[in-house]
Amino acid sequence: MFLKGTFIPIVVLTLFLFSIQPVFAQWNDVNYDENKIAHYRLPDPLITFNGRKIKNTKKWENKRRPELLQFFTENVYGKVPGNLKIASVDVVEKNDNAYNGKAIRKQVELTFKNNGKELSFTILLYLPKNNVKSPLFVGYNFYGNHTITTDVNVIISEAWTKNNTSFGIINHQLTEQSRGVRTNRWPVEKIIDAGFGLATIFYGEVDPDRNDFFDGIHPLLYHENQTHPASDEWGSISAWAWGLQRAMDYFETDKDIDATKVVVFGHSRLGKTSLWAGARDQRFAAVISNESGCGGAALSKRRIGETVWRINKNFPHWFCENFKMYNKNERSLPVDQHELIALIAPRPVYIASAEEDKWSDPRGEFLSAFYATPVYNLYNKKGIPSDKMPEVNCPIQNTVAYHIRTGKHDVTDFDWKQYLMWAKKELKIE
Ligand code: GCU
Repeated sequence: MFLKGTFIPIVVLTLFLFSIQPVFAQWNDVNYDENKIAHYRLPDPLITFNGRKIKNTKKWENKRRPELLQFFTENVYGKVPGNLKIASVDVVEKNDNAYNGKAIRKQVELTFKNNGKELSFTILLYLPKNNVKSPLFVGYNFYGNHTITTDVNVIISEAWTKNNTSFGIINHQLTEQSRGVRTNRWPVEKIIDAGFGLATIFYGEVDPDRNDFFDGIHPLLYHENQTHPASDEWGSISAWAWGLQRAMDYFETDKDIDATKVVVFGHSRLGKTSLWAGARDQRFAAVISNESGCGGAALSKRRIGETVWRINKNFPHWFCENFKMYNKNERSLPVDQHELIALIAPRPVYIASAEEDKWSDPRGEFLSAFYATPVYNLYNKKGIPSDKMPEVNCPIQNTVAYHIRTGKHDVTDFDWKQYLMWAKKELKIE
């Protein structure tokens, strides 16, 4: 009886689904063709949500900046639902003879406590040994502090890590085998020689990069019976940005650091993070986004390379739940990522792309820098003067800076050479 009644409709439905499958496949294909971008309109960073033109920095700071910041907070990255201060600072290791006597090494553990729960993360610091307060680059690393250097004294994190057999990471635990595997991305000696310190943190210690909210920092701020952030509360990017802000709290207390000259740096998902940290916290003197792509510097409305839908599908924990409203619906977003860049104004910001990194949409990253420029101009700061992209390997280094270099999604010596040169100029470091 049951079979008789349902067999035919099921067959018809199956055939129907098969027949429309190519339509969906096409819909979900990644577009890399500039000519196939549907017409879109970018919001003007200098026009408020209710249509008022912003003509000076005072109006920008009192009206437009706060409303944009609020929108990004509640609808893109998610708000931090409480005020969690450092419970204790522990200098677990210190040495004055790192890098052949050039640098001071410190490993500083920050601990947080709330709700009967506890979380600690460790900042690895290398500071030039020159008796002056050092300007500093701070940025997360992907696989543990010990991967950025061959220095045998760097402590190996015990936090959950994504497996990576080429780095010898199995069972989600870091080991001695991965020491130094990322030195190519972190030219520590060159940074020291340029007069900067470097601070880095393993991002997995603040929040492991997986789609659950039982670990990392989130549970410390849950209210009773809460197991998941609310729709407007922090995803992982916001949590990682929070970690950078707490590192900044520590820098302000370290007499060897010039906390007025801290440059926040990040690559890829951690470049999205550095932008959000820099937008949210004006204590960061400058911001660098290396190939941050979708949800970072790239304009969402272009829908080329990675899109809002795809990033939310593949990484459901990165943004807040509310951001999912814009899946395949970027048109209705009242903001775009150039306004995230504008939130950093008038502080220097550097956006970098790589020619082969189409997934991150280099042109969309460039245009964000260009369309954020009018806000910098309000402060008489120089941004990106034209919407014509520069040639590869020909950086534009104004207060808003941009380069596209040859090569793949990565952090290279070329990138660092530019960042050091530009940061010295913008932060007036001798
Ligand atoms: C993926 C993701 C990107 C991200 C990148 C990374 O490719 O789609 O959005 O930037 O990972 O962090 O390496």
